[in-house]
Parts: sequence; C-alpha cells; structure tokens
Amino acid sequence: MEIVGSSKIRKDAFDKVTGKARFVDDYKRGDELYAVTFRSPRPHIKIISIDTEEAKKIEGVAGVFTYKDIPGVNKVPLVFDDYPFLAEDVCKFYGQPIALVVAVSKEIARKALKKIKLKYKELPAVFDPLEAMKKDAPKIYGKDNVFRAYKIRKGDINRGFKEADVVIERTYRTNYQVHSYLETQGMLAEPSIDGSITVYGTMQCPFYVLDAVSNILGIPQSKIRVVQTTTGGAFGGKEDVPSIVAGHAALCSFLTNRPVKLIYTREEDFDSMSKRHPGWINIKIGAKRNGKITAIKVKYVLDGGAFATLSPIVLWRGTVHSTGPYDIENVWVDSFAVATNKVPCGAFRGFGQPQANFANESIIDELAHELKMNPLELRKKNFLDIGKKTATGHLIKESCGLKKVVDKITKISNFNKKWKDPQNKKGRIRRGIGIATSFYGVGLGAEGKFLEKAGAHVQIFKDGSVLVAVGNTEMGQGAFTVLTQIASEILGAPYEVVNIIEPDTTRIPDSGPTVASRTTVMSGNAIINACKILRRRIDGVVRDIFNVRGKVISKNGYYYAGGKRISYFDAVKECYNRRVKMAEQGFYRVEGTTFDRKTGIGDAYFTYTYSCMVAEVEVDIELGTVKILRFYSGHDIGKAVNPKLAEGQIEGGAVQGIGYALYENLVLEEGRIITNNFTGYIIPTIKDIPDDIRVVIVEEKYPNGPYGAKGLGEPPLIAAAPAIANAIFNATGKRIRSLPILPEKIVFQE
Ligand code: MOS
Repeated sequence: MEIVGSSKIRKDAFDKVTGKARFVDDYKRGDELYAVTFRSPRPHIKIISIDTEEAKKIEGVAGVFTYKDIPGVNKVPLVFDDYPFLAEDVCKFYGQPIALVVAVSKEIARKALKKIKLKYKELPAVFDPLEAMKKDAPKIYGKDNVFRAYKIRKGDINRGFKEADVVIERTYRTNYQVHSYLETQGMLAEPSIDGSITVYGTMQCPFYVLDAVSNILGIPQSKIRVVQTTTGGAFGGKEDVPSIVAGHAALCSFLTNRPVKLIYTREEDFDSMSKRHPGWINIKIGAKRNGKITAIKVKYVLDGGAFATLSPIVLWRGTVHSTGPYDIENVWVDSFAVATNKVPCGAFRGFGQPQANFANESIIDELAHELKMNPLELRKKNFLDIGKKTATGHLIKESCGLKKVVDKITKISNFNKKWKDPQNKKGRIRRGIGIATSFYGVGLGAEGKFLEKAGAHVQIFKDGSVLVAVGNTEMGQGAFTVLTQIASEILGAPYEVVNIIEPDTTRIPDSGPTVASRTTVMSGNAIINACKILRRRIDGVVRDIFNVRGKVISKNGYYYAGGKRISYFDAVKECYNRRVKMAEQGFYRVEGTTFDRKTGIGDAYFTYTYSCMVAEVEVDIELGTVKILRFYSGHDIGKAVNPKLAEGQIEGGAVQGIGYALYENLVLEEGRIITNNFTGYIIPTIKDIPDDIRVVIVEEKYPNGPYGAKGLGEPPLIAAAPAIANAIFNATGKRIRSLPILPEKIVFQE
C-alpha cells in the first residue's frame, strides 16, 4: 500500500486555514429573510395562549409562525416521536421552541420577538433524575418518567459475590458536557424552481435532516434536497438537533417562499441544544484476593432532559460497556434514561460511555486499593482478550490489541515505578500517576442495526480526476481525507486528483448517521465496493492494451502488467476511448449483531476498539488545582489509514477529556443554564493542556474493515477522566467521585 497508511495532507486543510471555507452563515442569497426563535421562559408550563398579532404588525416582519402553521407532522422524527418542532399546549424545558419570527433582518426579527405575548400557567417541575423516578414526582414522560430501561443478566450474581474475598460498593456522578463546537447551529433553506426545497447547513446527519424536513412540511422526500455545508465542529452535538433547526428554517422558507437563514446565538445554542447526559452510577464489585473479579453489579441512571431524543441509544451503549474491558463471569446491570425538566441531552463523543467509564475505572482503582494491589496488575488479571467474553457474553474472536496497548502505554509512561513511588507525597505540591482503560463497540450496534449501512458513488472523469460522493459527513474529524485515501489506493489514482463532494441527499442513498466512529468502516467499505468494480474494468483494459494476463499492479501513478507500464491518466483515456462505464455505486451493510432485551446478552457490536490512558498530575492541595504534566493515550484501531490524522484525533480527545475531568461545569438554577457561554463555561485552552501528549497506535487488523481499520472518533475521550481521577488519588490520597473535579472538591475532601 502506498496511500493507505501514509499521512497525506488533509483535503480540507488549505480552505480551513486560509479562511476560504464557507460556513452556512457565509452564504448570501440577496433576498434572504432571517428567522429567530421564541422560547419557553420557564422549565414546565401549560400554554394558555400565544398572541402574535403585535409582532406581525412590525414593519419588515414576513411572518410569525406557531405549531398551527405546520402543514405536516409536528414531531421531530427520532427514536420516539415525543418532541414537537413547536410547542402546542405544554413546554417541558426552559428554552423549548414555541414560535418562529421571520423578518428582513435579524434586528427586526428580534424586536418582533419581544412583542409576542405568551400566557401560561406554571407546572411543577423536576430537575433531578433520581427525584423524577420517585412515585409522586411530576410527570414529564409516560407513567414513570423513564424513557428506556435496559438490563444485563449474565451468570449468577449472588454466587459471584459469595466467591469474592473483597466486595466494595461506591456511587459516582458526572455533570453535563457541552460540545463547544466553534460554529453554532445554523441552516439556510430556500425554495427551488421545481417546487422542491433545499436545506444547507451545519450537520452530521443529512438523512436525519431529510426525515425531519419531510415531516414538518408534509412533502415527499424526493422533493427535498439536504446539503451539508462546511461544519465547524460537532462531536455529537450536530447529530440529531440540526433536525430541529432545519425543520424550523424549512418551515419559514416554505411559508414565505423566500430563502430563510436561521443561525443560533451562542447563548441559545447552550440553552436549547443537546449536551452530554449527567450520569449517576452505583457499582458493587467483588474479587478474589488474587485480583480475579468474580461479580459486578451496576445501576446506571442518565438524566435525559425533557424529551427522549437519542437517550435510549446513548443509554444502550453505556449499558453494554458499563463494566469495562473486562472478562467478568457474573454481571448484573440495570440502567435507566430518565425525563427531567431540562434541556434534552443527546449524543456526545463517547455516547453514554464516559460517564459509566469514569465510575467503572475509578472503582477498579478503589478495589485495587482495598486488595493492596497495583491497579495495573488488577486490570491485567481481568482484561478482555481473544477467547474471552464481554458483559453481554460476546466472545471476542479477533482483533483485540488491549494488552499490547496497555503494555506500550505503561512502558513509555514508566507507570509502575511512578505509581509505587509518587514524588512529593508530602507538602503542598504533590505528584501522581493514574491509569484507565476502555473498549468501544464500533458503529451503531445491535440496537441501531437497521441504520447500519452506507452508500458511495465514484465517478472517474476523462482527465483522470475522480469524484467520490458519500452519505457520511466531514465535521473536522478527517473523514474525507481518509476516505479519499481509500479510493485512491484501490483505483491507483494519485491522491491529489481524488476529491469528495459535499454530502447531498439527492446524490447518494441513505447512509445512516455520521456517528459512532463508524464512517471509516461503513463509507470506507462502500467506496471499496464501488472502486473495486471500476478497477476491474481498468485492469481489463490495461491487460488488453499489453495483451497480457495476470495481475495488474498500481504504483506511483502507473499500472504495471507483464513487465510493461501505462500511466493512470493514459489508462483512463483509453477506457474512455473504449466507452467503458467509469462511474459506479457501492453499498455496504453489516449483519450479525444481536442483543436480547430480556437478558442483555448478545454480540452487541461487529468489532471493538481498545484503549488505555495514563495521566501524570501535579496537585496543589491548598488551592485544589490540578496540572496535567503528561498524558499518554493508546488505541488499537485496526489500521491507521492516516497516522497523523489519527494522532490528531487522539490528542483532541485527550484535551476534551481533560476539560470533562477538570474544568467544564454547566451550572443550572431551576432548570435554567446559568453558565450559557464561554465566560461561564470554561473549556481547556492551550495553557491548560500538557505539552506532552504521547500517542500510541496499535494495529490489530479487523478482517472486515477497510485495510483492517476499526473506528477511532470517540475512544480518545472516554478513559481520560478516570485516568486523571486515579492520578489525583495517587498523588493526594483523595478519591473524587464526581465530575468535574473542581478545586473545592479536592480542598474540602478529607
Ligand atoms: Mo456521535 S456522539 O455517535 O455523534
């Protein structure tokens, strides 16, 4: 291989660093209108009336729309259909959309917004998921406020605890995390000449947006075109919620017959868009003296917010991974996604795993402490490996590089020596080291398998340039670069002449969402399936020209066969002369994942990525501040298609994980977010992250992945917080069981 495995320059690098890239708010149509959103002023209300007459009278206002103006169905289509595009008789969270104002300028639209008169009655609200689960709690969803519950029952939990020499039980909590993408949510919708509608915007999942626009307008999907514009970060925050923004923009455009832009301010983005779920996790774990874990019992509660959105699926991923990358015979898990009167939570890098992983990897350290064992040795006694089974009973048969990753990371960090002998155990400034591990099911898994597919269209032009269309999106993660490399490798076309067009729902079949670290495997395989057909045709022409049989090899822009060579460009020209079909479709889908909802047993995902992180910290025990001195992050990803990009993903995940562990603190009062911008909500800057982030990549090939690749997008964040918490314990003897680890928690804990 010459292209796959080499660190090609990102396809989007030049446009992004020079400012040439156009984000949705950069598009100008000349005759566009601007929409703004009128939102619930309280966390739980019964709407008595919405009076829009005064607002409509303001000059320059083109329309004020409520649910009554929706020609289609007033439901955001997702796992459940509980979330209305615009509120009808109740609002369940502060900031829930009620009406839309469209005007010739943003300023006029905002002025008109203030003239909308809402009469309402306050309803009792509940903000804590454990409170919401109680019998007499205000009802937000169904009879019990539970959106979804899962369980895992493996082995005999009572026998497992009886066999244990040591049993401990602890409770952990995690707070929200905000995606902090630099580009806020935004859409531009415009009517097209044939009566259809086009929606441009920042998004991860064009096909979710397509479903949403079709729903709200009540028009066929073939009359809608959704195009992703350059997307300034997402991290899960542009998975489902762009459907709401797009639905609103499309509604306004449809009703005014004009292009309409809807761009969120930072504050309204904070107030109303999805977040990482706060989590509550209780774990009981038992082990033999020698460190073999005999039983684990987990209760996992996610604070879902006012509507279900993706909570059921986030909960499922969290549940399947909640006992960590360990082979444990007796497992009992109960998990719940619960409704509260707060902003709906959704997808965020790790998708239900970071919360559970913080608890699980913290209690492993606590167990090691009780057993007076080195936490690395305890982990090694229990790790998953080929021939071992996950919590859901999935027998690992291939591609498990966990031990390799752990060995490399602990070697380069000198973990054992530093852990045994933390420097500066006394005095104000103390140093320590901590470790955490994780595994990550690649793709949507058994509970999302009906979406697990992807399409690709590959076209080779007369001049040899290649255009690839895929249904998955680039959001900064490097997908288009990696996918280009795969196409280029198979076709034998130079990397520079292969390009990917922006995702467009009219060009490509539904490829599922761009989430769950699935794009390299899914779109990569779809591209391979298309390119293989094209390559076979080219090879046939090459053999024919040289009048030889046997294999055609591509290298450095040439095809070689029978001792002769022809350049890629000449070969393509010859294909055109012979009227060879030079465009092809590819499709890929995954079969075989299973999950039994009664027992929680099944082969939950098609493959897993394995990770290990080590943090070295310096703690000021008077101020409670934590400095990360060095951070080590290793991952078995099957194959690094582009090692530099993989390294970038891993470093980015470390930074986001450090923010989650130490700084990011969303504060709410009565369901309203107080820290709703970057002056109140602190994310790490370059000053807060270690100079030294060391990356390890292990390549245990996944046979069905493109060139053996698995997935990498999310794992680099997951184990960061527990590695840091464990390092703080190693340095100070203080065990912090809630995130973020704010200075006051360290100072005031005994
Ligand atoms: Mo992702 S958090 O599955 O967009």
